[in-house]
Amino acid sequence: MQPEITLSIEAVAPGDVAALYNLLRASNLPIDGLSAHLTDTLVAKANEQVVGSAALERYGHSALLRSVAVAEPWRGTGLGRQLVESAFDLARRQRVQRLYLLTETAAEWFPRFGFVPVERSAVDPAVRQSVEFASACPDSAQAMLLTFAPTDN
Ligand SMILES: CC(C)(COP(=O)(O)OP(=O)(O)OC[C@H]1O[C@@H](n2cnc3c(N)ncnc32)[C@H](O)[C@@H]1OP(=O)(O)O)[C@@H](O)C(=O)NCCC(=O)NCCS
Repeated sequence: MQPEITLSIEAVAPGDVAALYNLLRASNLPIDGLSAHLTDTLVAKANEQVVGSAALERYGHSALLRSVAVAEPWRGTGLGRQLVESAFDLARRQRVQRLYLLTETAAEWFPRFGFVPVERSAVDPAVRQSVEFASACPDSAQAMLLTFAPTDN
């Protein structure tokens, strides 16, 4: 019989930040700028081990979705979708209207959630000033946008 696995998605606790950073490094995602947004960072934990993450950087009614990562053994299990949907719930609770992201590796994945590609110049200037936009992500990264309908909020 397989041992039971307890999976949760919750706000990152101080004691999980090191494991979160290790997951992001292992996933080749930037860490720069994230420390200022840990209150809006979610982690997935399996039996108390960090196995996934998703974070929001809020700028008024706009936000940047970043640090979406799933540990290799957990990929393809639907955990990425659960993390993105949990981040959407967080964004809606915070009255976010426009959710942006930058990606080099998953531009084919995010459209399933409703994201569409946008030019960087069309991104809310407040979001463009984020560390991820300004320096952490290469210019080749694709910007994408999801607009929440007013009834979503
Ligand atoms: C992208 C990522 C978060 C997806 O997590 P996941 O738990 O495997 O995703 P899910 O199980 O919810 O979804 C699996 C589906 O997404 C597809 N998929 C996964 N990663 C993909 C990618 N990078 N591009 C396109 N499709 C992808 C799978 O083929 C699968 O498709 P199917 O539903 O048609 O079978 C994970 O692969 C990851 O951590 N990658 C490294 C970090 C990264 O690139 N993050 C995104 C940029 S911010």
